[in-house]
Amino acid sequence: MSAAAAHARLADPVPSQAPGINASTNASISADATAEALMRSALAQPASQVVVQLRGVHKTYRLGQHVIPALQGVDLAVQCGELLALTGPSGSGKSTILNLCGLIDTPDRGEIWLGGQSVGGLNETLRTLLRRDALGFVFQSFNLVPVMTVAENVDYPLFIAGVPAAERRERVAAQLAAVGLADHAQHRPDALSGGQRQRVAIARALVKRPRLVIADEPTASLDSHTADQVLDLMRERCHAEGAAFVIATHDSRLTQRCDRIVALLDGRLS
Ligand SMILES: Nc1ncnc2c1ncn2[C@@H]1O[C@H](COP(=O)(O)OP(=O)(O)OP(=O)(O)O)[C@@H](O)[C@H]1O
Ligand SMILES: [Mg+2]
Repeated sequence: MSAAAAHARLADPVPSQAPGINASTNASISADATAEALMRSALAQPASQVVVQLRGVHKTYRLGQHVIPALQGVDLAVQCGELLALTGPSGSGKSTILNLCGLIDTPDRGEIWLGGQSVGGLNETLRTLLRRDALGFVFQSFNLVPVMTVAENVDYPLFIAGVPAAERRERVAAQLAAVGLADHAQHRPDALSGGQRQRVAIARALVKRPRLVIADEPTASLDSHTADQVLDLMRERCHAEGAAFVIATHDSRLTQRCDRIVALLDGRLS
């Protein structure tokens, strides 16, 4: 199946867990072009070394009678080109922080700043645009589209963003070469190993040239040797591209490959 056919067939090929957008949102987005330009310029500011910042962030979930204080006053700043590991026991709030940084969720109290601008007042359209254009996502389960080739998977965010075809081809080829998968461009994900699939997901996240990549347990489905390789690749790409990576992980060996480790306990930095 061609890329165009696959795009047409899949109403929302970015898996539901992956916060992207589908083509149907493009019309409403154009109405916010001015605000979009403002946000893009805020994110592009070279002077802004802090890519994402949490200021006094609280998040509480409610499940029936139960009140779950997932985050209880978190202050955190992540710099350009920094590979940050978020560690802590299950339930300590790692994914909650990633969801807030990734504009998937909103805090109850406190502020999230991206590229020197608070995102608190943004409407859902602008938050979606930022997720699409400025943020990359990598998940434990890879979240590749099985009916698309490797190249089509990596191309998809650029297609959605309306990047011209010639530029897309060039950027996809460059990313696949950078993650060592140029020879697998026409293969489907089920022909790849777990480590190779995660490399595709990393290429897909980086092809947008995001300022921030969010990775939730990206090596949890991999054996330890492959996990080491994937982490090395993330580290290399993080430093080469100057994007910040925030990685939630349980694996203490992997944190040794990160620039900084932040430990969470009961929704607080410990
Ligand atoms: N959507 C939700 N509804 C209700 N409670 C939630 C929700 N999401 C998270 N929680 C709760 O908030 C707390 C923090 O969860 P979070 O997923 O951030 O932890 P985590 O550190 O990522 O854990 P794990 O290592 O198991 O992935 C937990 O007590 C969790 O049960
Ligand atoms: Mg989690």
